[in-house]
Amino acid sequence: MCGIVGYVGKNQAAPILLEGLEKLEYRGYDSAGIAVRNGEDDTVIVKAMGRLKKLANKTDQGKAVKGTCGIGHTRWATHGEPSELNAHPHCSDDMNVVGVHNGIIENFQELRQKLAHHDYHFYSDTDTEVAIKLIDYYYKKYAGTPVDAINHALVRIRGSYALAVMFKEYPGEIYVARKDNPMILGKSDAGVFLGSDVPAILKYTRRVYYIGNMELGRLTSEGITFYNLDGDEIKKEETEIEWDAESADKCGYAHFMMKEIHEQPKAITETMKQYFDGSKVDFSTLEKNGAIEEAGGEKINAVLKGLERIYIVACGSAYHAGVVGKNVIEGMTDVPVEVDLASEFRYCDPKLMKNSIVVVISQSGETADSLAAMRLAHDRGIPTLAIVNVFGSTIAREADYVMYTCAGPEIAVATTKAYSAQLITLYLLAIKIGELTGTLDDDRIKELMTALEQIPNSIEKILDDKERIQWFAAKYASAQDVFFIGRGIDYAIGLEGSLKMKEISYIHSEAYAAGELKHGTISLIEKDTLVIGIMTQPDLFEKTRSNMVEVKSRGAYLFGLTTYGNYSVEDTVDFAVYVPRTLECFAASLAIIPLQLLGYYLAVAKGEDVDKPRNLAKSVTVE
Ligand code: AGP
Repeated sequence: MCGIVGYVGKNQAAPILLEGLEKLEYRGYDSAGIAVRNGEDDTVIVKAMGRLKKLANKTDQGKAVKGTCGIGHTRWATHGEPSELNAHPHCSDDMNVVGVHNGIIENFQELRQKLAHHDYHFYSDTDTEVAIKLIDYYYKKYAGTPVDAINHALVRIRGSYALAVMFKEYPGEIYVARKDNPMILGKSDAGVFLGSDVPAILKYTRRVYYIGNMELGRLTSEGITFYNLDGDEIKKEETEIEWDAESADKCGYAHFMMKEIHEQPKAITETMKQYFDGSKVDFSTLEKNGAIEEAGGEKINAVLKGLERIYIVACGSAYHAGVVGKNVIEGMTDVPVEVDLASEFRYCDPKLMKNSIVVVISQSGETADSLAAMRLAHDRGIPTLAIVNVFGSTIAREADYVMYTCAGPEIAVATTKAYSAQLITLYLLAIKIGELTGTLDDDRIKELMTALEQIPNSIEKILDDKERIQWFAAKYASAQDVFFIGRGIDYAIGLEGSLKMKEISYIHSEAYAAGELKHGTISLIEKDTLVIGIMTQPDLFEKTRSNMVEVKSRGAYLFGLTTYGNYSVEDTVDFAVYVPRTLECFAASLAIIPLQLLGYYLAVAKGEDVDKPRNLAKSVTVE
């Protein structure tokens, strides 16, 4: 989705803006632009279609645009086709107001008509141009401050936004506002920064502020002043970001995705460390309503102890983690778990049981559907627990309880380390519920925790043998259709493996519960169709293997993924991949690694843009 940046301070703004936009490239975009002010002089706006490189070339890497105050934007088209005209920044006709926006203004047609009655003309198809001109309209109508004008406009706007705006009469100042779209503000001795996401500003500062929903900020080189919708000043706490600048760099890897695949052992170790006291799962550092609960986790423990049902809601890979989570929680406890796609959950009028909890999983903490699903749970009085990677994100701030996955910034659009950290978090949750509800005794907990601690090491071993997957990917890069089959946890692994493959290599792939093949899908199997069978679950091994035999007899080429020891698979499959043994409930954490590598190497072999696949955005902040 769109990315916004801003800077006001002692240095030239344009190079900083371009650098910030580059760090937000992973969010997905089709055009980009910057607007820079040089003191009292008019604002210079430069835009370009396509990759940021074009914008950088157009501005001589930013050197051709002078000024110490500016805003920038990468656009992921929603209203209006991708074009230079529709690219941001947008401005009022007399350049009185210039701004960038991330989000969707739902009533923009109605507002556009209103403005047209007041002699406003429109040069683009965007909702953003309407928002900027609405601010201009109120600024002139009431002759008040920029804060007044923005507040008047926000009262009329329906939808979501992260807005950054400059006013002609206020050089050296940027005004920001947000509702349901991410924005982070940072401060250093060199000035004040804004970005949609932490990586945009991490190089310059780790001292940040989170601006709340329907709040405004005034940025000057001296600092930031916050306001509420009434225009009253409000105070905000400065927060220190723990991520370091290197974590948002490729550090010698060809792609962020490969770097992040290799960071999985660390992401898992860090996540586990946070909720494991050496012998048991410990929730005393789990956040309640944005702060570590003083009672040391008593409240969440009480909720978990009385649970009669768990609802897991999420999108994409986070949903796939949820499907693994359902299997694991139901395997360790007597609590039934329902997993829903957030986009369905929010509109299906879910019948939520009283003693339940809604677990929302999200890497970004900003996914619009997941956020809406969580708000629905709140409205119905059901406690919510968010499993989130981005500190201070909207979902993290609005959830009743938060478990952070400590994966660090994830830049590649295709998630790997955040997914792995989500799995670990779900295992810990399962163990805790098992302990609290009495289905797991101390010995079993010890056995589970010992197995969990070995996972990072086992992942290292799988990564050591990645060249074998690379070789296979080079051979199969021309595949058209690929099928993943498995049962139970293996099916859940297939869902994620299939998504990894299709989202970056553009090879069509589907995951099926192995028992479903005969109900239709098997008609798609032809000579040499690649079928990837996942067989990590001892009780289901023979069942899935016989499903593989069925497709082999119809011509399929078989890739078998199993654990060391199941060598009988070699009689059946054409290509066998083994992962180290672990307890079967944790097999997803190991079996997913070769499938991530496969998706990655297929994309590389096909010459695709691994980290920024077409049409996709890292953080999906619109419905
Ligand atoms: C996975 O590789 C995708 N990038 C996507 O499915 C992602 O998991 C989904 O959009 C959910 O994002 P979130 O975790 O930030 O909520």
